[in-house]
Amino acid sequence: MSSPTLASIRQSLASIDQEQLLTFFDRLDAGKQARLLANIASMNLSAIPGLVREYVLTKPAAHGDSELSPPAYYPADCTSTAGRGAWDRAHFRAKGIELIAAGHIAAFTVAGGQGSRLGFEGPKGCYPAGAVSNIPLFACLADWIIAAQRAFCPAGVRIPWYIMTSPLNDAQTREFFKQNAYFGLDRHDVMFFPQGVMPSFDIATGKILLSDLHEPAVNPDGHGGSIRALMVSGAIADMKRRGVRHISYTQIDNPLVRVIDPVFLGLHAFAPDSSAQMSSKMVAKAHAGEKVGVLARMGAGGKIGVVEYSDMPRALTEAVDASGRLVFNAGNAAVHVLSVEFVERLNGGGGGGGGGAAGQGASMPYHRAEKKVPHIDLASGQRVEPTSNNAVKLETFVFDALAMCESSIVMESLRVDEFAPIKNATAPGVSDSPQTCREIQTARAAAWLERAGVRVPRKATGEPDCVLELPPSTAMDVESLIAQRPAMDIVAGAKIVV
Ligand code: UD1
Repeated sequence: MSSPTLASIRQSLASIDQEQLLTFFDRLDAGKQARLLANIASMNLSAIPGLVREYVLTKPAAHGDSELSPPAYYPADCTSTAGRGAWDRAHFRAKGIELIAAGHIAAFTVAGGQGSRLGFEGPKGCYPAGAVSNIPLFACLADWIIAAQRAFCPAGVRIPWYIMTSPLNDAQTREFFKQNAYFGLDRHDVMFFPQGVMPSFDIATGKILLSDLHEPAVNPDGHGGSIRALMVSGAIADMKRRGVRHISYTQIDNPLVRVIDPVFLGLHAFAPDSSAQMSSKMVAKAHAGEKVGVLARMGAGGKIGVVEYSDMPRALTEAVDASGRLVFNAGNAAVHVLSVEFVERLNGGGGGGGGGAAGQGASMPYHRAEKKVPHIDLASGQRVEPTSNNAVKLETFVFDALAMCESSIVMESLRVDEFAPIKNATAPGVSDSPQTCREIQTARAAAWLERAGVRVPRKATGEPDCVLELPPSTAMDVESLIAQRPAMDIVAGAKIVV
């Protein structure tokens, strides 16, 4: 491709009213001039006026009360009449194991986020998470893959792991894996690729901000960017070479996540009401105000989707049924399975994808977030650190792809078994923190050990009087722990990796 000329870029920018990006062009050295032009040329410029009109200068309407209804789901207790009623867990587990054993499953983790909300410098996956061992989040997920490989795969079959980084943390993430010998995985089975970026817009005018004299301000394009990034990075092509058919999608923030769950994989691929394109896990909400999205059916007979807590009408968030249960109780666990074919289809059919800039490829809707974005003042050339929201960032969310499925299913998982995300710094009354994560890890290990006949010391309040970590290499579910008939003494105050 020939390098973009100043004249052609100036003309393109003029046609979309974004010429301010060249304000300081004449003050730059040749290298920075070339970088700025290349940067602008890599944007999907023709899409920008529409985005500005639709998302930056307009606030999208909230969901109306009548549009949403709770989804039917496969209940965690497969004998229960809750949700869509009883189902044959053992059958779907066996079907899921067949898929894993045949090499048809890949793990995929979105790890584009930084640990900034935790006051942690660096990729979130490097954050120490093991309740006792302090192993990082990446190691917790790697241990699941190793355990699943041992449990379900015959010799020679692997579960490859694809990790989406962001341009901000890609190099650090790769280095972290190298330093830690890929946490015991074969390095050829771990693939990294960065997600795309979107320009950040001035909240009042819709003009793209400059983060430096020669750089437009950008932000990662959201985990929905994974749909396009999977394609253009070559990850999908790599999966097809390996015979992978379904992608087990998880976030990096939850050390208890079942990275590979045969039951969920079996349901996704074989349940009669699943189109085997994209499936979701739910956890029952802890309380009405919990900051999780909810899985809901959109409109009468409509598709399943996720409504973020901030977009949910309060009356619906707090609505309860006759037994006092929350009506919209299906918390989004942010765990999905997507078929390789579906990801290809979202990218416009089969084939290899191809370059293109942010905003091209998969047609996912954007979500608007008002933020403080440091930028260059166009009059003075000085950097401005805003004290109030001055910008709009646009992101896409992976769960919006659910609307493009023919039919998708929801499986309930138990919070104590699988859901202990680390999002916020520890503080009194704050959930999803390193502290609450340690407590849930301990509660889970204690509950499983007690079911396996081990005595766990408890305080007068009923909480375990110890700190426990139960890695997947010991047991991936309570049934396999019970089968091991563990014999151990746990004294009050102990800190043990079981
Ligand atoms: C998310 C879900 C919410 C769900 C909750 C469960 C969204 C918008 N909401 O909330 O419905 O109930 O998890 O824990 O996702 N990420 C990237 N690139 C990006 C943005 C995010 O890789 O550009 C990754 C992060 O590393 C993280 C995950 O996506 O692993 C979640 O992102 P975040 O924006 O923090 O969403 P939550 O508030 O955690």
